[in-house]
Amino acid sequence: MGGGIAQVAAVQAGCKVVLVDVKQEQLDKCMGLMDKLLAKDVAKDRLTEADKAAALARITTSTDMSAFGGASFLIEAATENVGLKLDLFRAMDSVAPSGAILASNTSSISITKMAAATARPEAVIGMHFMNPVPVMKLVEVIPGLATSEATLADTLALATAMGKTCTQSRDIPGFIANRILMPYINEAVQTLYEGIGTVEAIDTSMKLGTNVPMGPLTLADFIGLDTCLAIMQVLHSELGDSKYRPSPLLVQHVNAGWLGKKSGRGFYDYR
Ligand code: CAA
Repeated sequence: MGGGIAQVAAVQAGCKVVLVDVKQEQLDKCMGLMDKLLAKDVAKDRLTEADKAAALARITTSTDMSAFGGASFLIEAATENVGLKLDLFRAMDSVAPSGAILASNTSSISITKMAAATARPEAVIGMHFMNPVPVMKLVEVIPGLATSEATLADTLALATAMGKTCTQSRDIPGFIANRILMPYINEAVQTLYEGIGTVEAIDTSMKLGTNVPMGPLTLADFIGLDTCLAIMQVLHSELGDSKYRPSPLLVQHVNAGWLGKKSGRGFYDYR
């Protein structure tokens, strides 16, 4: 998702972007995909070749966090793991200029907790994009307990410049979208676990029956089953309601390493 966020920041908002990852290989993959997606926009007359080249030239990559030294707005989009996010927020806080905003693309983890790991809780905020970022119109904006009005206003302005429509959510596990989406996906997995229907029957029922672009099991594979499980675990442990219990079949798939599209196998086989 980091690559998608970098793309809309550079293309739609015209920002200079530094894209940081621990692996150079991942950065190269992101830049390659971006080049392909923008070439399609040029072919469809939605972007000129010159604007494509200028947008790509606005993005630099690095495996070193100190590359964020001159940034005014940092957006973290790492794996959905609390310990990792807290470490990243401490590191971002130490390299970012004072006054820079630190945002997280987390799908469910407490913004207030990440803010408390920094010396600038008033400048920490949630900025939750949807996948695939260049296509999906929504950004959920989540102020933490200490987030200032100025941070909120700057974040809404940046997301709007990126061409997104914003909703605002309280800092409660899952926020709005995943509070509703993940129990729906989990219930689809449970429906499969209980043998009520096949993978295809469940997806077709929801796709044709509710007019969504993907059935819930296809969508789960697309999001990543490890991400779906991590979000259900946050909802379950932090809200304490048994209705958020992850389906045993979802746990089993993750234990097997069947993580969906990215691993080649999930509820469907992509190999
Ligand atoms: N990156 C960028 N663009 C992409 C893309 C990607 N990974 N995948 C598809 N697209 C673009 C295509 O290039 C195409 O663009 P054009 O129309 O300009 O040519 C457009 O999307 C449609 O793609 P396709 O025709 O190939 O396929 P499709 O019509 O089936 O659409 C889809 C693909 C947009 C992914 C659609 O199936 C969809 O909207 N699915 C639901 C996605 C969704 O619900 N996302 C939210 C997940 S939850 C989340 O992200 C939050 C979380 O915290 C877990």
